[in-house]
Amino acid sequence: MRRTIVIASLAVVGMVAAACGSSTGGANQSSTNQSSSSSGGSSETAKAGGAGGNVGVFTWWADGSEKKGLDALVKLFGEKFPNDKFVNLAVAGGAGSNAKAKLAADLQAGNPPDSFQGHAGAELTDYINNGQILPVDDLYKAEGWDNVFPADLLARLTVGGHIYSVPSNIHRANVVWVNNKVLTKAGLDPKAAPKDIAAWIADMDKLKAAGISTPLSVAGTWTQVELLETVLISDLGVDGYNGLFDGKTDWASADVTKGLNDYKTLLTYANTAADGDDWPGATDAVIDGKAAYNVMGDWAVAEFASKGQKDGTDYSYWAVPGQDGVYDFLADSFTLPKGAPNAEGAKDWLRLIGSDQGQHDFNLAKGSIPARTDIKPDDFPPYQQWAMGEFQKDKIVSSIAHGAAVNLGWGTEISQAVSQFYGSKDVAALQAALVTAAKSNIK
Ligand code: GAL
Repeated sequence: MRRTIVIASLAVVGMVAAACGSSTGGANQSSTNQSSSSSGGSSETAKAGGAGGNVGVFTWWADGSEKKGLDALVKLFGEKFPNDKFVNLAVAGGAGSNAKAKLAADLQAGNPPDSFQGHAGAELTDYINNGQILPVDDLYKAEGWDNVFPADLLARLTVGGHIYSVPSNIHRANVVWVNNKVLTKAGLDPKAAPKDIAAWIADMDKLKAAGISTPLSVAGTWTQVELLETVLISDLGVDGYNGLFDGKTDWASADVTKGLNDYKTLLTYANTAADGDDWPGATDAVIDGKAAYNVMGDWAVAEFASKGQKDGTDYSYWAVPGQDGVYDFLADSFTLPKGAPNAEGAKDWLRLIGSDQGQHDFNLAKGSIPARTDIKPDDFPPYQQWAMGEFQKDKIVSSIAHGAAVNLGWGTEISQAVSQFYGSKDVAALQAALVTAAKSNIK
């Protein structure tokens, strides 16, 4: 039995704050070959599949190791649905840092792709409440998915008794990736996680003394938000962290201040980053031995693999110190947008996403674990086998940086505060901004 995914319920209001900037063109592929179009109705019964025509899929898996996951899906899509033509609408930028604003603008302009990637939890609830995506209950019924996805994950995708997307995977955000050689040289055991943030900082001092000037690698703003959320999990504990999203934990509390100060201290051990720096650079700094540690979601394991790194020999991984037994969760989930140009083709894509082979091939390449519970771990490399075991027994919390815990508007406000803090290092100002953001989003 799986334990419950404890995710604070959120009142989701308003349009996406990130929906800004100009859109010079639609998200949709130009098509002379669309076999069907939809006025946005969702009630038709699922057909056997193979609708034909272009199927434009919007993600941010545009290059590098992330694209390998998408490529695995595209290959299988071609095999399973040879009449359908996959059209790649990916917009580069980790965590959707560029993609989400473009998507929001396209949706607002009534110009949706056939399917897009969103995050289970608050972020997808945004799209549902905005009336931008349609229920796919018929697909779940036809494919028997109610029995193969964890009930608690499905609950996060369900609004008003309807389910609106198909999860492709489960990622873990609170992982520290470690360069074994660098730690060994400094007299540290790369496989032994420090017991808490203070002990971790003490190890960073040893690394500095051993000549590693920036033991911790960071990239742009969203990676800093991810680092911050993991420090808050350590300093507040699971219940305290979960309470941040339903008003039970006061963002103005001394515990949060401690977390923010720890975060500030950690940044003093990190390289300098610009707002838009993407995650592969930070993970590569560990691979190249320029840094000892990178806190990154487990899409990083695909980067290690793509650079020929050997699990256990070249690199190690553990949960961020102080949170062993806690899984900071996020899941990518694919949608059927209202007004999708090729709704039947989109359903083929969703069929593939939810299929056992789709989940197997995609997650093997992506570093995540299958959302389906019936995929055997045997084929997966050691990291994913470990993660599958941890997910079964850990307490689950929701990622801020990846749309599980906070809606798009709230996430944008947190990112702005974190970005400003990177320049100012003013803890009081950061905490005040976080308090204001929580006030306007917790109803
Ligand atoms: C997350 C997404 C992951 C991965 C990561 C880095 O938001 O859920 O699948 O793509 O961003 O880009």
